[in-house]
Parts: sequence; C-alpha cells; structure tokens
Amino acid sequence: MPKQLDSSNIPKHIAIIMDGNGRWARAKGQDRLYGHSSGVDSVRETLKAAVEFGVKHLTLYAFSAENWGRPQQEIDGLMELLVASIHGELPALNERGVRFSTIGDVSRLPSACIDSLTDAVNSTAKNDKINLILALNYSSREEIVSATKKIVQRVLDGSLALDDINLQEFQQALYTANIPDPELVIRTSGEHRVSNFLLWQLAYAELHFTPVFWPEFRREHLVEAIYDYQRRERRFGKTSEQVILEK
Ligand code: FPP
Repeated sequence: MPKQLDSSNIPKHIAIIMDGNGRWARAKGQDRLYGHSSGVDSVRETLKAAVEFGVKHLTLYAFSAENWGRPQQEIDGLMELLVASIHGELPALNERGVRFSTIGDVSRLPSACIDSLTDAVNSTAKNDKINLILALNYSSREEIVSATKKIVQRVLDGSLALDDINLQEFQQALYTANIPDPELVIRTSGEHRVSNFLLWQLAYAELHFTPVFWPEFRREHLVEAIYDYQRRERRFGKTSEQVILEK
C-alpha cells in the first residue's frame, strides 16, 4: 500500500471515464485507434493497482451509446480491440482473481464481441478479488428508462404493489443491481462532465478530474485520485459536526 494512502478508507467501488485517447494520439501524430490501443495498457495497469489497493469493483466506461455516432472505421477498430484485448488478457484476469462483467445493452454489439464477452463472463465467474465491470453501449438515461419498464411490468403482472416501489426495488432493476454505488469517479483528460454515466449511482460519489490523458494514466494517478478522495469529508446531507461525532 502506498504510504500516503489510508488502507482503512479505500473506496470499494471506483468508476472511471477513460477520456483523451484520441487527443493523445493526435498530439503524437498518430491515428485515434493508436490512442485506444495504448489505453488498454492503462486499463491493465489500473486494474493491477486497484487489486493491490483492495478496491472491490472497478467500472470502466469503454463505449457509450452515443459513441455509435463516431466514424465507422473507429467503431470497427474499437470493437476489434475489445475482442483482441479480452482474448489476450483473459489468462491474466483469471490469475489475478478478476471477475468480469458488463453493463449496458451489449446485445447491439457485433456477434464476435458478444461471444468473447460471454466467454470472459463465464470463465471468470468464480473469481472474487475484484469485479471488473465494462460499460459497453451504455447510456445511463436508457438504463433508467429500462429499469422503469421492468418495474412497471412487475406492477402490471401483479408481482409488485405500487406502494412497494422504493429506492431498493429501483436500484435492483438497474444494470448495477447488487453492485454498491461508486464512492469515487475519475475522469481523465481535463473534461469536467459526467456524460450520461451512472447518473443514479453517482448521487453521493466524489468526483476527481485529472488533466492526464487516459493512455498516460498509471498507478501513481490512481494513488493521487484515492488520496484526493481520502481528504474529502463525505457528509451525505449531514453537518460537518455530526460527521465528526459519528467517527
Ligand atoms: C475516450 O477517448 C475513450 C473511448 C471512447 C474508448 C475507451 C476504450 C479503451 C481505453 C479501450 C478499451 C478496451 C478495453 C479492453 C477495456 P476519446 O476517443 O473520446 O478521446 P478524445 O476525447 O481525445 O477524442
């Protein structure tokens, strides 16, 4: 554990908006896909560090529902990179005890992607060191609409009473059912936006923004983000005095 971190206060769930691959690559005179493939090294290093620090859930925003609007060549390249990375990393995921899952509507991804995602989910299902959750074709607003439909369906078929709709039932209808809300969200590349990512789940998250582009994000940047998180006072609507008394 890095000495500046308090091992008793590591976020259980960290979510990352991996941004800046394209700009990083362009600044080097390379094409955008070079940025994305370099971003895979950052994923590997970040995951390794997260396991080391005892983080239990790591959610990475890999492809948003809005990303379908990108040039087809970039989309195809990203999908190929996803299949190749899963194939290449699967043995290491199993060695490190990583359980892999996805959030988002993966049914719209190319069939080769769906096959390798299913393979990774099944082959890592029994691992329990950390959950690696990839957000793919993910839109938080769509997630909320889809949760609403599930709840309404249960009311219509009589398995849920209108008065029994509550925060827990709603939470269980989201893609992230059974995953605790992230305490810390990191966005790279200097952008200060949430971009339709985990809108419900981020209600009380601490937000950390770094100017570092995703392909350059490494262990030290994760340490910096957790250190920043540990300096925050999380009040959940209470007063500072109450929070101090409860400690
Ligand atoms: C944002 O940078 C990044 C993405 C849309 C894709 C992220 C994907 C990876 C890091 C590869 C994922 C692969 C695996 C296996 C997890 P951007 O393209 O929006 O950068 P820009 O804002 O500079 O254009």
